Amino acid sequence: MGTFCFCSSMTSNFNVPQVLPPSDPKLVVNGGSTLSGHVIVSGSKNSALPILAATLCCSGSSNLKNVPYLSDTRTMASILESLGAQVMSFGGDMVVNTDGIVSVEPDSSDVGKLRGGFFVIGPLLARFGEACVGLPGGCDIGARPVDLYIHGLRALGATVELRDGKVQAHVSNGKDLIGASFRLGYPSVGATETLMMAACMAEGKTVISNAAQEPEIIDLAGFLTNCGAVVEGAGTDTLYITGRRKLYGSEYSIMPDRIEVGTYMLAAAITRSCISISPVAHITLTCLADKLSGAGCKILQLSDDTLELSAVPWTIGDDLRGFSVKTNPFPGFPTDLQPLTMALLSTCKGVSVIEESVFENRMSHVTELQKFGAKIQVCGSRATVSGKGKASPLRGSQVNATDLRGGMSLVLAGLAAEGITEISGISHVDRGYESLEMKLQGLGANVIRTTTTTFPV
Ligand code: EPZ
Repeated sequence: MGTFCFCSSMTSNFNVPQVLPPSDPKLVVNGGSTLSGHVIVSGSKNSALPILAATLCCSGSSNLKNVPYLSDTRTMASILESLGAQVMSFGGDMVVNTDGIVSVEPDSSDVGKLRGGFFVIGPLLARFGEACVGLPGGCDIGARPVDLYIHGLRALGATVELRDGKVQAHVSNGKDLIGASFRLGYPSVGATETLMMAACMAEGKTVISNAAQEPEIIDLAGFLTNCGAVVEGAGTDTLYITGRRKLYGSEYSIMPDRIEVGTYMLAAAITRSCISISPVAHITLTCLADKLSGAGCKILQLSDDTLELSAVPWTIGDDLRGFSVKTNPFPGFPTDLQPLTMALLSTCKGVSVIEESVFENRMSHVTELQKFGAKIQVCGSRATVSGKGKASPLRGSQVNATDLRGGMSLVLAGLAAEGITEISGISHVDRGYESLEMKLQGLGANVIRTTTTTFPV
């Protein structure tokens, strides 16, 4: 795999390879080989982001461990710094001190980069009585409104308005938020987290019903409890929170990233390989494990926190069988693994159906997967995948990532495909996968990151 392009302009000698100026990084994968060995997953991005926001509730310093080094966690740190917090990082540790907060209006350009940026509205409002937060960004996978956040903050006694593209909120009684009972119209992960943080510092008791039950909610509740909050019911559909006027920074270790675990399970399956993965909390991925076992993979719990997934030919027999999935809030099949599962299904035997029920526009990877020769038809939120099986492998291709998990589905397809795959737009993938190419290389994958053009132009 070279890093040169051959260019025949008037001014260059076309026999001399030219290195083009650096551009957006790409991943180049020479696919078709099997993976082996062990991979260690990082801390969870989707836990780290709300927990970083929750440090705004706390006096003193919070020492967070196992924080993944990702563009999203760095942006979240910048958001906290734009408010006046001090953030120091050493390896996987992030120490945040919010005693010097001077603003309740985070940098809008950073908030516009990720959904998690909006979470700060809850703690700011609860601790300082006001907040002015720009509308959030994040992956372009649907409308992603913030109405549930606003509804909940109003129930807690805030006045909330949308003005000049920002959500402006203040505590209506000029003092504190007041605990309340309300039901979320949908078990939104981010709204549950934001309102949980706000309720932890509200006066009196709050009951949030139809709350999200994702493991990341339990992790956030764990951090808040360490800081002195009283939260019961995390991981069920009803949260009972007793407000405390003051919370104190504490030390907390972020849970392992269950979506990264699922990603490497799918990487082993799509390459018909056998790898082990740790640390894994098995309960968080039962849905995926059941589907992969049904398809023919063998999943072994090697120890409390290590699993092995085997999809090698002598384990799976003829080939992996397709299966159908519908995404749903936890404990349903995770929407974040939908694009990656689609990549796998395009290599399995038989017809599979994927229904996306969480986000209305999470299918943009389909046109890119089709470039590998995948046979996928989309009708609304349903995709029908006609698996090619081993007789007709995917072919390497030049593709473009437009969102985090869709981008990672292209990396998986590239690992399975015969020949070279070049994936541009890899900054989307960098938002959620720490040390991606190093981890893949450690499993024996032939993958490099480059900023030069590798295909002939
Ligand atoms: C979180 O997003 C995750 N992000 C997402 O991870 C994940 O896909 C999603 O939960 C579902 O599991 C973070 O934790 C930072 P939601 P979030 O609010 O909180 C609708 C990844 O790849 N909704 O549960 O934004 C919304 O439009 C990502 O790592 C409203 O209608 O998800 C969507 O259809 C991407 N109004 C549905 O709820 C609201 O006010 C679920 O969204 C809020 C949400």
